[in-house]
Amino acid sequence: MEIERKIAVVTGAARGIGRATAVALAEAGARAVVLLDLRAELAGETADLVRAEGAEPLALDTDVSDLASLRSSLDETARRFGALHILHNNAAIGEGATDWPEVPAERAGAIVDVNLRGVILGTRLALDPMKRSGGGAIVNTASGAAFAPLPPQAVYAATKAGVVHFTKSCASLVQSHGVRVSCICPGLVDTEMVRESGPEGRPAPWLQSVIDAVQLLTPRDIAHRVLELVRDPDGAGRVLSVENRARGTER
Ligand SMILES: NC(=O)c1ccc[n+]([C@@H]2O[C@H](COP(=O)([O-])OP(=O)(O)OC[C@H]3O[C@@H](n4cnc5c(N)ncnc54)[C@H](O)[C@@H]3O)[C@@H](O)[C@H]2O)c1
Repeated sequence: MEIERKIAVVTGAARGIGRATAVALAEAGARAVVLLDLRAELAGETADLVRAEGAEPLALDTDVSDLASLRSSLDETARRFGALHILHNNAAIGEGATDWPEVPAERAGAIVDVNLRGVILGTRLALDPMKRSGGGAIVNTASGAAFAPLPPQAVYAATKAGVVHFTKSCASLVQSHGVRVSCICPGLVDTEMVRESGPEGRPAPWLQSVIDAVQLLTPRDIAHRVLELVRDPDGAGRVLSVENRARGTER
């Protein structure tokens, strides 16, 4: 799908990869980029960046794990702009500073609710407005963690494996609804999620050795690959891995 003049929604758009995708969509000519996040102030900063690239921003306080909240924001998008073409289901949380299995049960449930339930609900709610808009593209953010055991972040990794499998099962929505659902699986990206993954706002100790061994990807690297998926006419069910290069192999 071409991006020019399209109406796009990005979840988790207040910072990190979601912010980078929102800005990249604006740069690519989207008419409007709707920013869904819990962090209103930071989402306002993303809105300024989107406006500077010539697209109309709309930041809506939204909890993607809450059906009513997500429905209200997607309804507001359709009301305001009359269409919905692109959705980046990107918001997610991890175990935080407390590794599995010490992570509190409430947090474990919240990881599933945000990372997997949020993606499923977002996809479900976007299908009908996208069909009415003549078709659409949904890109889900999974993770390289979907493919290998990750003991300290077992819940996070399980949700990401779920997102990959859900995406593959959604491939047929291109026939029924004209909506191509794909997903991106980034390696380690330089965002707050990584930088503040451990105690006292520092990287988790188990993660530090990985950070030391690889070149971190940037949010902008991932945003450009998300746009590649949006544009891919054969993207239905596609799972795109973006891997880190080892340190010392800089081009
Ligand atoms: N950073 C990495 O190394 C990495 C690697 C692989 C995959 N990912 C995935 O990329 C995506 C973005 O990660 P990031 O590194 O930019 O993280 P981040 O923590 O910097 O940003 C995530 C955003 O999601 C928002 N969010 C959290 N819970 C929410 C909720 N319930 N409703 C709405 N918004 C909510 C946060 O406020 C934040 O703005 C996530 O899906 C993450 O799992 C990240």
